[in-house]
Amino acid sequence: MALTLDALKNITSIEDLRLLAHRKVPRDFLDYYESGSYAEETLAANRQALSQIKFRQRVLAGADNRELNATMLGQPVALPVAIAPIGMMGMAHRDGEIHACRAAQAAGVPYTLSTMSICSIEDVAAAASKPFWFQLYIMRDKGFIRALIERAKAAKCSALVLTVDLQVLGQRHRDVKNGLTVPPQARLSTMLRIAAKPGWALGVLGGKRKTFGNLAGHISGADGIVSLSKWTAEQFDQALSWQDVEWVQKQWDGPLIIKGIADVGDAKLAAKSGASAIVVSNHGGRQLDGAPGAITQLPGIADAVGSDIEILFDSGIRSGQDVMRALALGARGCLIGRAPLYGLGAAGEAGVAKALDIIRRELDVTMALTGVKRVADIDRRVLAD
Ligand SMILES: Cc1cc2nc3c(=O)[nH]c(=O)nc-3n(C[C@H](O)[C@H](O)[C@H](O)COP(=O)(O)O)c2cc1C
Repeated sequence: MALTLDALKNITSIEDLRLLAHRKVPRDFLDYYESGSYAEETLAANRQALSQIKFRQRVLAGADNRELNATMLGQPVALPVAIAPIGMMGMAHRDGEIHACRAAQAAGVPYTLSTMSICSIEDVAAAASKPFWFQLYIMRDKGFIRALIERAKAAKCSALVLTVDLQVLGQRHRDVKNGLTVPPQARLSTMLRIAAKPGWALGVLGGKRKTFGNLAGHISGADGIVSLSKWTAEQFDQALSWQDVEWVQKQWDGPLIIKGIADVGDAKLAAKSGASAIVVSNHGGRQLDGAPGAITQLPGIADAVGSDIEILFDSGIRSGQDVMRALALGARGCLIGRAPLYGLGAAGEAGVAKALDIIRRELDVTMALTGVKRVADIDRRVLAD
């Protein structure tokens, strides 16, 4: 622990956590975490579009005693942020999803467990102090999906996040070249790269969870070793439609969040579907390459459906300033993917806590310098013309 805290002493930004994670985690997994699809145009556009949004500096506005607490899905949160679902998060650190969930809950923000996590729903539920959100991908085997929803209910998950933008997999070139497989399987070339990160090997390979905790032994075809793209093509349901959303809603009694909306027309359909919230997202630039930066889609969607359905945002958030930008353009909160993932790779649970703390402090200062005291008061007036 002392070593971890020492490593975090000079960390002042999410970028610092990213660089530290790069020193610790083997390349095959870093490539999986960092990559966008194809030419990575959308991955880059997500960041560019956010940084083009400028603030309006306000002074002498008496912005003391700021409050960063907010609500998401009607529940109080300490910060308008949630950890996004990340497949294979548990390959960044031993028992990674458990650590990320604990750090999120200690910071008072929601944690979302991916269908494609390394630790299972039951593993995380046993270690968590509060309910967490569960993210669902719809696969062809509806019996398995029904069982997964039942497992999420039994684990007392407080929301179901239905991801709708990955019925086919956008190709990430480096994953193909590295031979990333399901379950993760080390080839000789991978082994050599792993040998360069002995601390990671001792931690992750020495742990007991190394494959997809929610799938292993439950879904036919998940037991062999196949490439991620082949496996997704076989398992994921390409015929996914709004009827499936309805079907999922019938199985799940709690709040449903539809993740992966990037179009006003789709947002209107989502608002009519009875879901509690949408996540405006392009999957962190990992799916449709050539799509615009996700933040450029947010104002139009907020104008169209903001009074009908709660709007969350993700894709490219790396700072409290970015959270402020999304809130100003109509989001009630942001999901963050790579930011806590870097923290996890850098320093486990303490690293995720650090990522959340960095974002919290940045949001706080940005509120002060734009003259805003409460999260609920953040709107387009904080932006420069
Ligand atoms: C390595 C990685 C794995 C991901 N796995 C999932 C997943 O299993 N389910 C899902 O709905 N989204 C997944 N996403 C997308 C994230 O939930 C989120 O939309 C995205 O990371 C947000 O962009 P950001 O990383 O720039 O914050 C993944 C993203 C990354 C980077």
